[in-house]
Amino acid sequence: MSHDKQTCSCHGAGKTTGPITLSTTRPKVALPKMIKVAKADQALYRQVIEAAKKASEDAYCPYSQYNVGAAVLTFDGEIHAGFNVENCGYSQTIHAEESALTRALGSGLLRRAAAQGVDQFHAIKAVAVYAPKGSDPWPCCNCRQFLGEFGYDMHIIGEEPKDGRILCLTLGQLVPFAFPIEEVLASVRGQR
Ligand code: THU
Ligand code: ZN
Repeated sequence: MSHDKQTCSCHGAGKTTGPITLSTTRPKVALPKMIKVAKADQALYRQVIEAAKKASEDAYCPYSQYNVGAAVLTFDGEIHAGFNVENCGYSQTIHAEESALTRALGSGLLRRAAAQGVDQFHAIKAVAVYAPKGSDPWPCCNCRQFLGEFGYDMHIIGEEPKDGRILCLTLGQLVPFAFPIEEVLASVRGQR
């Protein structure tokens, strides 16, 4: 019996959708004003960006071929880098920012911060993100939430690919209406 290859279930089985239509337009919202990095921080921030770049070379990304590096600069000047680690169950992929932050915590960051009277919301000074195929350093929304556990004053930094200037925004500028961690903490303490 003849059948239509377009509609029959045997030929349709396993067919994937094609590439999505790309649009380069961004939502029309007021963009945050880029921060001019203080002179005193510039050389250090370049080092953090370099650490993110170097880390991106170690990414394990066989499924996207999109390597990302990230580096966390702690309040006491340590730099901890990480990269994306993909998984065949795609959603188990670890993002570069998650990896870098986890390594920073693993260095005893919060213990050192507490010992010096620095709260967890100021233990991280900056996070650099670098993707050689990307054009800006802004972390995905999941990573913004992940980083936000440690405050919204941290700088998110990267290098503008065309002119090499340092791009810098606070995490708070990237998440103007953040999920209120202080309210959740108040709730668990019975204050709400
Ligand atoms: N990726 C990151 O590492 N960080 C982000 O914030 C965005 C996406 C990774 C995940 C995946 O391995 C690849 O980039 C493509 O999405
Ligand atoms: Zn992410």
